[in-house]
Amino acid sequence: MSTLWSPFVHDLVPYVPGEQPRIENLVKLNTNEHPYGPSPKALAAMQVALTDDLRLYPDPSSTKLRQAMAARVGLEASQVFVGNGSDEVLAHAFNAFFRQPEAILFPDITYSFYKVYAQLFDIRYELVPLNQDLAIDPADYAKANGGVIFPNPNAPTGCLLPLASIRAVLTANPTRVVIIDEAYIDFGGDSAVSLVNEFDNLLVTQTLSKSRALAGLRVGMAFGQRHLIDALERVKDSFNSYPLGRLAQAGAQAAIEDEGYFQSTCDMVIMQRNSLVAQLQRRGFEVLPSAANFVLAKHPAFAGAALCAGLREQAVLVRHFATPRISDYLRITVGTPDQHKALLTALDELLA
Ligand SMILES: Cc1ncc(COP(=O)(O)O)c(C=O)c1O
Repeated sequence: MSTLWSPFVHDLVPYVPGEQPRIENLVKLNTNEHPYGPSPKALAAMQVALTDDLRLYPDPSSTKLRQAMAARVGLEASQVFVGNGSDEVLAHAFNAFFRQPEAILFPDITYSFYKVYAQLFDIRYELVPLNQDLAIDPADYAKANGGVIFPNPNAPTGCLLPLASIRAVLTANPTRVVIIDEAYIDFGGDSAVSLVNEFDNLLVTQTLSKSRALAGLRVGMAFGQRHLIDALERVKDSFNSYPLGRLAQAGAQAAIEDEGYFQSTCDMVIMQRNSLVAQLQRRGFEVLPSAANFVLAKHPAFAGAALCAGLREQAVLVRHFATPRISDYLRITVGTPDQHKALLTALDELLA
């Protein structure tokens, strides 16, 4: 605290990211990173871009990257926006669309950055409780609001809504922007990007941090009709014209173009998720149905916080949220077979 701060900074409650500790032989299953590395073609493209040209500013519009992203999903480059991680894209979207007189709606249990952005930008919000299965009910979003946002699949539950439900939310809110945050969509869901040309109020955000194993590069994107992208560009150019550096643009483009590597590594994560769920259930865990690269699981006989702390002592990191309704759960990122073996061995010791 300091009297030199702008007064509103005193009241900010910032987002707390998952730990990134430097512990040797750590089994790190706490921040939903991809267990297999990025596309070798992405790494090679960044090596090629590592030249004296770094003295020059990058393309402020990331034109080639946006063209590659658009081509992959059958849209125009003018329907794609990119930013420094989807967190930045979301921040611009909150500014561009959610500064409305009415409160915006998002689930009571969801990505905690939404609350942080609402607070930062002075946006009123109303939390919409998940149903008794900890799932989103689209009917709950059919009321007056300043905008709607939720992840699909939701985080940290992993629960997926079908496209028919997304369509219902879009239809119920024709005069407000509905943002579908698809950070985890590539691990088994149908993307709402296919609805972009049909709904002028739909913005879909995605990221290269999860399914393309590039969390360290910080690249996120949004798909929407041109009038929505134009608003995002206005906000971006009022904040930072060069959100993506030369290396990020080159690496992200090559990653997007390497469809084969992307598909095969996503398939591996899905296979590993299925095996992890079965192994946890065998040990008595209740596991929510997940379409993401993590699972939310609770054991009827052990508190989530105690299990999380016990695992940490054995150098296995998972995430625990001291949040009502999910405080008994652990969120476990899907890892490699070796990482799962370490996790399960440590769990067996704790449960014994
Ligand atoms: C639901 C959701 N949205 C967005 C993000 C932000 O991802 P990034 O800024 O790495 O693109 C995350 C990261 O964990 C997330 O869980």
